[in-house]
Amino acid sequence: MASARTQVAIVGAGPAGLLLSHLLHRAGIDSVILETRSRDAIEGTIRAGVLEQGTVDLMVETGVGARLQREGFVHHGIELRFAGHGHRIDFPSLTGGRVITVYAQHEVLKDLIAARLDAGADLRFETAVKAVQDVGTDRPVVRYAGKDGVEHELACDFVAGCDGSYGVCRSAIPKALHKEYLRIYPFGWFGILARAPQSSDELIYARHPRGFALISTRSPDVQRMYFQCDPNDRVDNWSDDRIWAELHARTEGDGFRLKEGEIFQKNIVPLRSLVCEPMQHGRLFLAGDAAHTVPPTGAKGLNLAANDVFLMSRAITAWYESGATALIEGYSAAALKRVWRAQHFSWWMTSMLHQFADATEFDDRRQLAELELVTSSTAAATVLAQNYVGLPLGS
Ligand code: DHB
Repeated sequence: MASARTQVAIVGAGPAGLLLSHLLHRAGIDSVILETRSRDAIEGTIRAGVLEQGTVDLMVETGVGARLQREGFVHHGIELRFAGHGHRIDFPSLTGGRVITVYAQHEVLKDLIAARLDAGADLRFETAVKAVQDVGTDRPVVRYAGKDGVEHELACDFVAGCDGSYGVCRSAIPKALHKEYLRIYPFGWFGILARAPQSSDELIYARHPRGFALISTRSPDVQRMYFQCDPNDRVDNWSDDRIWAELHARTEGDGFRLKEGEIFQKNIVPLRSLVCEPMQHGRLFLAGDAAHTVPPTGAKGLNLAANDVFLMSRAITAWYESGATALIEGYSAAALKRVWRAQHFSWWMTSMLHQFADATEFDDRRQLAELELVTSSTAAATVLAQNYVGLPLGS
């Protein structure tokens, strides 16, 4: 058994783990990142792509935002489509000038991995964390198997659980000491990537009797689109022709015509909401999907992870600088405030735009009335815009 020691052991090299390691490094704090997957797998996995203003600001201010600023696409609004018409929600005028940036999550990961490796970080891919132990003491230990199968022990001051929804860290909090709030939605999203021109300058969120559809983008010639589907459906059931017919049907109206192209990726994701409370136990702190999941409507997942690690790095830095424990002890409560705000927003967007199998005609009319309100009342549109672009980090 090989042993090593670091200040912060970070489990998981997703957005939360990598950004945390980067922020800690800037404060002079060492970390080791342990990640199950290979670097290629991480950099090649397609996920969401909308960054809040605060996430962009954090990356730019800490020196990892240059490519994002060069290659990301700034969007000043979104369109809500329903009953055959599009309605624009303008972000800057409703939020004091805030905007969002479309830049894929795996591009964020590439930038963070490159920055961490350039700075000489200890980043161990293809390692399997077996156990997170002694987090109730001031000498926690993470046990893991390296690429070669050899068992290692990493001693540390703090463990950051950034290992996603199905990682080991959440289960290191005893069952009796945490509660999981779970909601499973009765639908999933069918996602495609297509080599096609952009159909619209801004993202389109469409409510249609056949189900929700979302038209997003990755670049001028690669488009990301999703449509509500049965979570148990299979990708093989959907030919390209059937996919385009469905997307056309759900977005038509006002003369709008989606531009088609070669579909080169298809996947189905289930929709669920989950919150683990508290997000800490002793010297173990959870961040990102290890602590919470949001349905993708509104693209909050990555941005919540950024807020978590912003708070966590501030708390850990204060502890090393002065021994102060207030921010450490308050981490979960501070992070959960924004987590629940995002849970509400993601649930609201999901329920306003999707078709529910048990919906009555009353529900149908009420849903349309809600969309009318959001697109005609400045007060209601402001609530959507402020939540979409996100509050400053840490607030
Ligand atoms: C994307 C994903 C989302 O969940 C969303 O609300 C907007 C955009 C995307 O992948 O581009």
